[in-house]
Amino acid sequence: MSSSAVAPSPTSTSPLAPSIVAEKREHARAVEVLVDRAFGPGRFAKSSERLREGNSKLDDCSFVALHEGRVIGSVRLWPVVVGDKPVAFLGPLAVDADERKHGLGQALVEAACEAAAKAGWRAVLLVGDAPYFGRVGFSAEPVSQAIMPGPADQRRVLVKALVEGGDADLVGPIRIA
Ligand SMILES: CC(C)(COP(=O)(O)OP(=O)(O)OC[C@H]1O[C@@H](n2cnc3c(N)ncnc32)[C@H](O)[C@@H]1OP(=O)(O)O)[C@@H](O)C(=O)NCCC(=O)NCCS
Repeated sequence: MSSSAVAPSPTSTSPLAPSIVAEKREHARAVEVLVDRAFGPGRFAKSSERLREGNSKLDDCSFVALHEGRVIGSVRLWPVVVGDKPVAFLGPLAVDADERKHGLGQALVEAACEAAAKAGWRAVLLVGDAPYFGRVGFSAEPVSQAIMPGPADQRRVLVKALVEGGDADLVGPIRIA
């Protein structure tokens, strides 16, 4: 396994277990299909998409889950600023409908956060369900004054600090860096 590969627990000892590896150019088409299936045609209307279109993903912090060469999960991170503070923006996160509830979603988020921490990002921001992302350390309170570029339920704007105080003073418009 390369240094950028992470195996999800608890099945990581099985030779057939999915592996989590850095997304490569060759995965891009399969990621699009997976994300289209997971979110449907409305995905491009989301406010989060305003932070992705015209932006370039963080290649060292974006991962796919592979099973026998097939892309079954994906997570991407993007550079944005909140006010004047740079943070990594996570999304979309998607796992193939037949492969859910085995910990892959959480393993993808953890791989992305770990890579972002190594790359020196102070925090990871996202728009998502607090009951799900709360399990991996995200919360809404520190970013209650961070403003998405379009309609968004503020309770779904969540952040996870990667360093001590990394979620402090995240106030103002969220924009492409
Ligand atoms: C959300 C998603 C990535 C989770 O993938 P996964 O591999 O099943 O995730 P995990 O195995 O780590 O976690 C599964 C657990 O989270 C729960 N869960 C899934 N989505 C949830 C949500 N939106 N809110 C609360 N809990 C949720 C599951 O019920 C399951 O609970 P259990 O452990 O008690 O059985 C996957 O369901 C998916 O692709 N959904 C469609 C796209 C999406 O909504 N993406 C997230 C928004 S950015």
